[in-house]
Parts: sequence; structure tokens; C-alpha cells
Amino acid sequence: MLDRLARLEQEAREAVASVSGLQELANVRVRYLGKKGELTTLLRGMGQLPPEQRPLVGQKANALRSTLEELLRQREAALKKAAAEEKWERERIDITLPGYPFAAGQVHPLTAILEEIKAIFIGLGFQVATGPEIESDYYNFEALNMPPDHPARDMQDSFYVAPQYLLRTHTSPVQIRTMELQAPRLPVRIIAPGKVYRRDDDATHSPMFSQVEGLAVDRGITFADLKGTLLLFAREMFGPKQRIRLRPSFFPFTEPSAEVDISCIICDGEGCRVCGQTGWLEILGAGMVHPQVLRAGGYDPQDVTGFAFGMGVERIAMLKYGVEDLRLFFTNDLRFLKQFR
Ligand code: PHE
Repeated sequence: MLDRLARLEQEAREAVASVSGLQELANVRVRYLGKKGELTTLLRGMGQLPPEQRPLVGQKANALRSTLEELLRQREAALKKAAAEEKWERERIDITLPGYPFAAGQVHPLTAILEEIKAIFIGLGFQVATGPEIESDYYNFEALNMPPDHPARDMQDSFYVAPQYLLRTHTSPVQIRTMELQAPRLPVRIIAPGKVYRRDDDATHSPMFSQVEGLAVDRGITFADLKGTLLLFAREMFGPKQRIRLRPSFFPFTEPSAEVDISCIICDGEGCRVCGQTGWLEILGAGMVHPQVLRAGGYDPQDVTGFAFGMGVERIAMLKYGVEDLRLFFTNDLRFLKQFR
């Protein structure tokens, strides 16, 4: 009996070692340890043994069962591990492979400047207003104190789309539209950013460009408010040491009117190539809102006063970034645009 147990152990060990998969291993388990398996069958024959041999044989048989169970367990673990490794190899992703590059976008330099301008005026309590790019003769000229034969119209050579409609030549018509909507409530305090169009095309002029209009109307607004507002803007935009200079000028819709310069951001007023040796750079037009314009907007010039200004966004961007040809902003050349990251 003990010999048979020893042989059985030998056989079972070989069987376990030779299986190549989990299913085969399960079969081996059934063959030796199952209800009708070899070990079970062998133990059934124990009844024929003399009683004094039974304890020893029983002990050996139990030991063999434990040994076989342990063997099966180890073999099963080894097979599972091998299968998992094989699957890992098969499905492996090579994380050292470079990924597909994709281009990250960025804000256009003009958008960035515009956002800066807006933030400064919003901080001063201005609200953002807009108007249409196709504008009527009335809003673009007439309500701004430029009747049909006014010579000032010549300065804004225009694109007409119909006899009384044109692509707006400036953002000033938004002054009228805003006042019409708001009158008689006070104060009016808006900026109006947007595209404008003129028949102009060279390194510093484009037929399409952007302006930011400003308008403040209230009781007791003075020229000092205009100057203070513009000085604060210049310092926020170009640095705390900025100075501004106002030169007398003319616009039909403001009286008095001024051209506003900032001290040259390149030479700080010393005189250089960029400022044409003057030490000053012109950045906007401004003035006190003309009584006729207040009236057209629905306000009483006896009761209220106001200031207005209009600046060119491209011009400010050119100065701030040192760009010499305005057209670069519109030609979508990535070599240019990538410099503003
Ligand atoms: N609209 C003027 C222009 O385009 C600028 C301006 C706006 C001047 C408001 C004075 C007041 O040239």
C-alpha cells in the first residue's frame, strides 16, 4: 500500500509538471483528487488492510493529499502568472514613442492689446458698448456734426454699400447710439471697441482696422477729467512714468479738440527714429463732446457736458510691440504670430 502511494505521488508530480494550461491542470486535479480520483479510490481499499497498518497508511495518504494540493496550487499560480505576462507583452503600449504633436493656439496680439485696453477702462467704471459695422450716413457723419458737404468727410474716404449706408469709418457713431438708448439717464460712461474701414492702404494704414471709442457724459465733466483719464490710461498701458501731451486739433464732433501724444516709449522723450526726433508719439484723438452731438444723443448741452476719445488699436500694438508694418497683423503668418507667445 505504501509503495502504491509512493508511485502515485511520483506519477502525480510528473502529471502536474507536464501540463501546459489551466484546463489541463484542472483535469489532473480531478484525476488524482476528485471523488473518483486515484487517491480516493486507493483509500477505499484501506478497509482490506490489517487494522494496525491503517493509521500509518491513513497518515501518509493525508500527507500526500496536502502535498498534491500544494503542488497544484503552485502550478496554477505559475501558469496564471505566465499567462498574464504573455498578455502584457502582447498588449504592451510603448510609452517611449513620441505622441502626435498638435499646435496649441494663442491669443492674437491685437486681441491681447484690446483686452488690456478694455480692462483698464472697465476698472474706471466704463461699460463696453458696440454698434454695427455697416452704418448709416446719419450715425457715421450727420449726427456727429458732419453734414453732407462738410469738408471733414474728406479725411475719412469711405466704402459705401448703398447711397445712405457705408462701412463705418470710425467708432464714433456708437456715441450717438449709446446716448439715444440711455438718455436722459446719467452718467454715460462707455468704451466702444470695434472694426472700422477707410480707403487707405500702406505700411501704417489698413482698409480695415480697429478703434476703441470712449464717451463720458454727466453734469460737470471738464477737460481735466478727460486729461486725467487719458494720463491714467497711458500709465496703465505703457508704464508708470508715462507723460502725455495734448495738442490743439479739430474734429467736428468735439469742441475743443486735441490730438493726444504719449512720451516716446523707445527713447522716453529724448528723440529717436521711432518718434521722428520729437520725443512724442500720437496715439489718439479726443475732446469735449460738441453741443450738437449731445443734442443728437438726446441730452441738453445746458445741463450736461462730456468728453470723448478715439484710439487706434493697431497703432498702440505697433508701438507696444515695436512692429513696423501694420499689415503683419492681418496676414496670418505664423512666423510673425508665434513671437507673441
Ligand atoms: N473719430 C475720430 C477718428 O476716427 C477720433 C475721435 C473720437 C476724436 C472721439 C475725438 C473724439 O479720427
